[in-house]
Amino acid sequence: MNIHILAIESSCDDTSASVFKNEVVLSNSIANQNVHREYGGVVPELASRAHQQNIVPVVHKALKDAGVNADDIDAVAFTRGPGLMGSLLVGTSFAKGFALANNIPLIDVNHLHAHVLAHFIKEPDQETAHPEFPFLCLLVSGGNSQIVLVKDYMHMQVVGQTIDDAAGEAFDKCAKVMGLPYPGGPLVDKLAKEGKPNAFEFARPRVKDYDYSFSGLKTSFLYFLRDRLKENPNFIEENKNDLCASLQSTIVDILLDKLEKAADDLNISQIALAGGVSANSGLRDGLQKMAVRKKWITFIPKFAYTTDNAAMVAITGYYKFLAKDFVEQDAAPYSRVVF
Ligand code: KG4
Repeated sequence: MNIHILAIESSCDDTSASVFKNEVVLSNSIANQNVHREYGGVVPELASRAHQQNIVPVVHKALKDAGVNADDIDAVAFTRGPGLMGSLLVGTSFAKGFALANNIPLIDVNHLHAHVLAHFIKEPDQETAHPEFPFLCLLVSGGNSQIVLVKDYMHMQVVGQTIDDAAGEAFDKCAKVMGLPYPGGPLVDKLAKEGKPNAFEFARPRVKDYDYSFSGLKTSFLYFLRDRLKENPNFIEENKNDLCASLQSTIVDILLDKLEKAADDLNISQIALAGGVSANSGLRDGLQKMAVRKKWITFIPKFAYTTDNAAMVAITGYYKFLAKDFVEQDAAPYSRVVF
């Protein structure tokens, strides 16, 4: 039997809708919000307003691209959290209305859970490799940095996580200090390619077990620049590539160090990356090198499925549909992490 799922993602600043036929993606439509650029970060109220403008056209496009009508959809899945409350409310309310109008089940999806299950998205007429259970997933985005032990589609355990900022936040905030536009992560990555990773040293955290901390690095970066700028007002301009390369290599080392420790202790050799920061070339290269040394099998999803997208919500919705894990119309979004 073929199951068609419509999924909605609106947790932060991208409005996305996707249609799946079983595990296969038929469409994945996304409206990005450029309105936040001039503010150097996502402005929650502007994000909610833009979701409100975008949601109907984005869903319409997803259905059209998939060649599917609203009455072909068997269930609607939506991101319930974590995320920005105003943004989540738009997607949640839309999904409820769609479910009610079409008399179909409603499926709530945890955004982080969806990032992990993005590894199971299948493309039409293509074989895609996916990790075998149990595997470890390093989930690194603008809002989260976690090591997740994935036992099966529905059972995941966070074995380590950041106690303060996320890795993406560290990239973005340090980039902002250097005067780079938001989001700075991709630009740091680009400039780092021309720089020396050992040019400068920044603070490395000491936190327990498999947890992360990035706020000390951010402060260390800020104070380092403040001191150097006193001596040379052009310091950033003259050293931008080296600064980016050193910053990136510090973040990557911190991430991989704990991942290696977790994989060793839990005796797991299937390792996956997820979240927006998995686009980082330093992280990808570092992981590949570590994989050769440790004999790991690694998985990195297609770029379109690493940043916020509804396809990952749809695949999660599909597995929840099979488990008949539905929610009622009174399901309210949650802004904080509940894994
Ligand atoms: O997963 P995502 O799209 O959104 C969240 O749910 O947070 O991740 C966005 C984050 C931003 O912090 C962005 O700077 C970072 O991912 N990012 C990168 C790269 N591409 C995106 N960071 C470093 N290098 C990249 N190439």
